[in-house]
Amino acid sequence: MDKHFVWLDCDTGTDDAAAILCANKLPQLQIVGISAVAGNVELEKTYYNVHRLNRLMGTSYPVYRGAEKPLQRDLETGYRYHGENGLGGVELPLPEKIPETNEPAWDALYRTAVEMKGELELIATGPLSNIGTALLLHPDLPEYLKRIVIMGGSSKGGNRTPAAEYNIYADPHAAQMVFDCGVPLTMCGLDVTLQAVLMEEDLEQIGALGTPAAKFFHKELLVPLRTQECGTGLKLHDVCAVLYAARPELFSGRPAGVQVETRSELSIGKTVTDLYSDKKFGFQNAFVVLSLDRAAFKKTVYDLIAQY
Ligand code: RIB
Ligand code: CA
Repeated sequence: MDKHFVWLDCDTGTDDAAAILCANKLPQLQIVGISAVAGNVELEKTYYNVHRLNRLMGTSYPVYRGAEKPLQRDLETGYRYHGENGLGGVELPLPEKIPETNEPAWDALYRTAVEMKGELELIATGPLSNIGTALLLHPDLPEYLKRIVIMGGSSKGGNRTPAAEYNIYADPHAAQMVFDCGVPLTMCGLDVTLQAVLMEEDLEQIGALGTPAAKFFHKELLVPLRTQECGTGLKLHDVCAVLYAARPELFSGRPAGVQVETRSELSIGKTVTDLYSDKKFGFQNAFVVLSLDRAAFKKTVYDLIAQY
């Protein structure tokens, strides 16, 4: 089996936490580092939420602080969908000892990518502020990244606005830099993540596994289940990105040219793709994931959480 050495960049909120729990059990993935970025909730919460997950998983993945705000825009959080603490209001204890580090996320990511001689893959499930900063400070970073998989964007519509998906909307300037950086990029946008649905009974079935991780998974996701507006059921947006990295056969999509709207107040953060237009951009800078095998998705998530 091919092993993917991955760096997770997360705004650990509820579905980021679900993605980390799944990534930790996917045999195809080896998590090398995790960086926190402001998004769903403030940076300090997203940073310590990853440490809380380390304790829950019994792991000690290195965790790094990143950006407290987007490159240019003010931070707009998502309390409504993730709760005050980012974990659906579920209190997880911190590890007794937290290895504090002063190395910022963008330097740690770059250092690790260079050390791994181009074998490192980046999976980003929040606003791309850390990656944008890394590209500004380390312009040769793309030479050392094997690929980037993001949860973000949408070829049609949005969730934070009618035009834009939250992660891209939150930091469109960083997102444009990532789409332009030349690293092979896969976009798991709303096109596919709105299909990655669990119903309340599916969450209850996972919770009934009875382990602390399974009970956490069930409880922390009840907030987004009850607040997400795009249709019924819980959309596990970020889980799509980690699952795609490990099990691409569960998904399908097409290459496309993608650009990000960074100026218009009405549609800022929109990922404009040429998937459906006669007029093409003349380049294909992303593989846009469009569908997934939902039954396999649901079973895989259950089987992964059942391993705790
Ligand atoms: O639009 C969904 C995305 O925004 C997810 O990554 C969720 O965690 C929020 O960051
Ligand atoms: Ca996220």
